[in-house]
Amino acid sequence: MEENVADSLLANKYFMGIQEKLPRQGPGLDELTLKALEKVQKLSEIFVVLDVACGVGMQTCCLAKALPKAKIQAIDIHEPFIQKLKDKTKEPQFSNIVVEKVSMFEMGAKFPPDSFDLIWSEGALYIMGIEKALVEARKILKKKGFLVFSDLCYITKDPIPLEVSQYLKEEGAEVIHYEDSIKKMKELEYEVIDSFILPSEAWTKYYYDPMREEIKINREKNIEEKAQETYKMMEREIEMFQKFIKYASYVFFVLRK
Ligand SMILES: C[S@@+](CC[C@H](N)C(=O)[O-])C[C@H]1O[C@@H](n2cnc3c(N)ncnc32)[C@H](O)[C@@H]1O
Repeated sequence: MEENVADSLLANKYFMGIQEKLPRQGPGLDELTLKALEKVQKLSEIFVVLDVACGVGMQTCCLAKALPKAKIQAIDIHEPFIQKLKDKTKEPQFSNIVVEKVSMFEMGAKFPPDSFDLIWSEGALYIMGIEKALVEARKILKKKGFLVFSDLCYITKDPIPLEVSQYLKEEGAEVIHYEDSIKKMKELEYEVIDSFILPSEAWTKYYYDPMREEIKINREKNIEEKAQETYKMMEREIEMFQKFIKYASYVFFVLRK
């Protein structure tokens, strides 16, 4: 194995070690999941839902409670997250969740056309690329089905400080203004029903605050250089968040096929 591949696998191991302990793996709050769900029309006709890249499933559980008659199919590729959500499905209130290891890259091939009334994904479609994800999701959505997802966008037309734009670029985030993102969604023949910006609390309450605590605990346990580097990199993200939140945040989009 090449040295840099081994290096990044090791960093990923320490990063995931922290992520596995968090209540969620990206920004979000149940109240915002519900706010987006409220925009989905005729909720009583939503019977089959796909949650793409569910993580440990905070939003999956929120959807399962809000839609008790629907089957919520949740997919992710990281075994420890999948296992955590599987454990939750033992509770009767979450028995309508089915969790499976499926890559989002395979969703178009894995599920037959017209499978879902609603496809949900919080903070994850960027992994596939939003345009590609929208095209693939469209194939497996039923006619007039809904796609609800959140994505990191610029939220102001003010000039973006170089420090912010460079940081996001370095992190591999292809960030554009959410209005430009909406234009692309329309070009891909989606009806855009609603969009709203996630407040800074959505980043901190169940994500960065517990992450900070976990870093403290793990820093004592894992003294290896790579571990320490990884924790520093994660802390830098939290620090940078204070700078970029004025300019960029996650935005929820509620679309219809
Ligand atoms: C930023 S987290 C978001 C998790 C969750 N939706 C949330 O908001 O807490 C991204 C998730 O994508 C998952 N993931 C990464 N690559 C994936 C892929 N190719 N297919 C499905 N899930 C993937 C990760 O395991 C992780 O759970």
